[in-house]
Amino acid sequence: MTPEQAALVQQSFANVAPISDQAAMMFYDRLFEIAPSVKAMFPSDMTEQRKKLMATLAVVVNGLSKLDSVLPAASALAKRHVSYGAKPEHYPVVGSALLWTLEKGLGAGWTPDIADAWGAAYATLSGFMISEAYGQAQAAE
Ligand code: HEM
Repeated sequence: MTPEQAALVQQSFANVAPISDQAAMMFYDRLFEIAPSVKAMFPSDMTEQRKKLMATLAVVVNGLSKLDSVLPAASALAKRHVSYGAKPEHYPVVGSALLWTLEKGLGAGWTPDIADAWGAAYATLSGFMISEAYGQAQAAE
């Protein structure tokens, strides 16, 4: 992920902020549609979960331009996810639901450069989280 890509992710995420809760709803609807088996891992009332997801994404996105600053929090987040039942193979599915949501939420603002930038940012973050939580070998798979 280049500094330009980090900036693109930050700028485009700012456009999602006004529809934050709606975006989170779309994200979980999409996630449960493409991966029905993960639904049971989440609480039935998703109100708080939606807020936590968007707040954490905001922190991570803001930290992309200074990656070292968010890595400790991302590592802790990844390790908590082991106890939620998250597996390495869930990360690409979550990434796909996230990019789908951004594409829908940003509409015409979703350009190929922005898609590439989000793809690179998610690959960096999820690769790091998987290696922190499950070890290097899993991350390379
Ligand atoms: C970069 C990727 C991800 C981010 C930013 C993220 C973010 C979050 C946040 C902020 C929470 C709230 C609790 C906490 O902070 O510990 C959470 C909970 C949770 N996440 Fe994720 N998550 C990610 C990936 C995943 C994946 C791959 C799964 C696998 C299905 C998953 C499943 C869950 C579940 C089951 C909970 C807990 C619900 C509960 O019991 O309260 N997440 N996630």
